[in-house]
Amino acid sequence: MLDVFIFFCLCSWSLAGVFGVEVKPVLVTEGDSVSLHISVTEEERNNEIEWRFGNGYTLIAKLFTKNNTSKFFDTAADGRFKGRLKLDHQTGSLTITNSRSTDSGLYNVISEHGNPLFTFNCTVYGRLPVPDVLFNSSQCSSSLSSSQNCSVVCSVVNVSAVSLSWYKGKSVLSSISVSDLSISLSLPLEVEYQDNNTYSCVINNTISNQTTHLDINTHCQPCSGYIYCFGIEAVIRLVLAAQVGVATVAVLIYDIRTRSLHLKRRGQTSVSNTD
Ligand SMILES: *[C@@H]1O[C@H](CO)[C@@H](O)[C@H](O)[C@H]1NC(C)=O
Ligand SMILES: *[C@@H]1O[C@H](CO)[C@@H](O)[C@H](O)[C@H]1NC(C)=O
Ligand SMILES: *[C@@H]1O[C@H](CO)[C@@H](O)[C@H](O)[C@H]1NC(C)=O
Ligand SMILES: *[C@@H]1O[C@H](CO)[C@@H](O)[C@H](O)[C@H]1NC(C)=O
Ligand SMILES: *[C@@H]1O[C@H](CO)[C@@H](O)[C@H](O)[C@H]1NC(C)=O
Ligand SMILES: *[C@@H]1O[C@H](CO)[C@@H](O)[C@H](O)[C@H]1NC(C)=O
Ligand SMILES: *[C@@H]1O[C@H](CO)[C@@H](O)[C@H](O)[C@H]1NC(C)=O
Ligand SMILES: *[C@@H]1O[C@H](CO)[C@@H](O)[C@H](O)[C@H]1NC(C)=O
Ligand SMILES: *[C@@H]1O[C@H](CO)[C@@H](O)[C@H](O)[C@H]1NC(C)=O
Repeated sequence: MLDVFIFFCLCSWSLAGVFGVEVKPVLVTEGDSVSLHISVTEEERNNEIEWRFGNGYTLIAKLFTKNNTSKFFDTAADGRFKGRLKLDHQTGSLTITNSRSTDSGLYNVISEHGNPLFTFNCTVYGRLPVPDVLFNSSQCSSSLSSSQNCSVVCSVVNVSAVSLSWYKGKSVLSSISVSDLSISLSLPLEVEYQDNNTYSCVINNTISNQTTHLDINTHCQPCSGYIYCFGIEAVIRLVLAAQVGVATVAVLIYDIRTRSLHLKRRGQTSVSNTD
């Protein structure tokens, strides 16, 4: 993790240092189109410009301003951009359609004479799933649990670089974060059946979020009868998935959750903010 961080730091330093070109960050959600906007000078426009991708400066597109034509290198960079690039002949701006996670990286605009003109650092974020909120019926078989309380679990599968949080109104009650790896996350919440506050489970990354509101009437069920048998099974599967996830991931932030558990054990009521 630290290695990666240092690598990126050195990388951005050397680009800025050697070429003196500012690295412009661009963030996009997977599947969306993204335009890397440039405006070239009249002189540059009378010549060729090149778009190059990645640390290897792979040539992916070229604009011939003299005869107003563009050329795309479909097999370059393992063919990942095939059919998805567009060039604005007036400005030289590049548009990538239907973006994919493999489009993340550096994009350099190079003049005919090999001078770097612009650099973009494009990061493609995964499309966020809507969090699932499920009743934790295993509380029903636990004699320790209070029948005044409802316990639910919020979960998402196959996510990376996200935070999953429970909100009470606008304040964060608990939160869990995951870095690069694609894993499943789950976060429990215990509320009183009589509670009138608004609770919501939010998944977010740097650029977007998805919310599921807790509806005590539909998500919470009183503990009795057989109807929850399949519910128990679902929760067991969820717990197993969560444990596998926890085992595989290196960086999980449990601070808030642990803290709130402590508070709960001490029988206090508390609302805490993250950050
Ligand atoms: C590019 O963006 C990523 C994600 O935001 C960041 O980790 C990385 O340091 C940036 N690289 C450069 C060269 O700016
Ligand atoms: C446009 O010009 C470039 C070089 O100046 C040349 O390679 C290319 O074939 C030309 N394209 C057309 C359609 O004339
Ligand atoms: C250059 O080409 C584009 C698209 O191929 C066209 O829309 C535009 O009118 C052309 N511009 C000139 C000055 O010929
Ligand atoms: C469900 O509730 C039980 C008992 O209260 C608890 O031990 C378990 O961790 C909860 N499940 C999840 C997925 O949080
Ligand atoms: C019930 O939930 C409330 C609010 O989360 C908590 O303060 C209380 O300790 C819980 N009671 C029991 C018996 O678990
Ligand atoms: C998880 O996500 C990756 C890429 O985002 C995808 O290739 C994979 O099929 C997904 N797995 C599941 C179980 O959804
Ligand atoms: C989620 O949003 C919060 C602010 O609302 C932010 O601090 C946090 O970094 C975001 N999580 C991720 C993974 O970007
Ligand atoms: C919730 O609202 C109901 C009716 O509006 C009220 O009777 C009850 O006392 C409220 N409960 C709490 C904990 O505020
Ligand atoms: C979710 O994103 C919207 C804008 O897309 C923002 O207004 C809202 O504050 C975000 N919610 C959270 C909980 O971060």
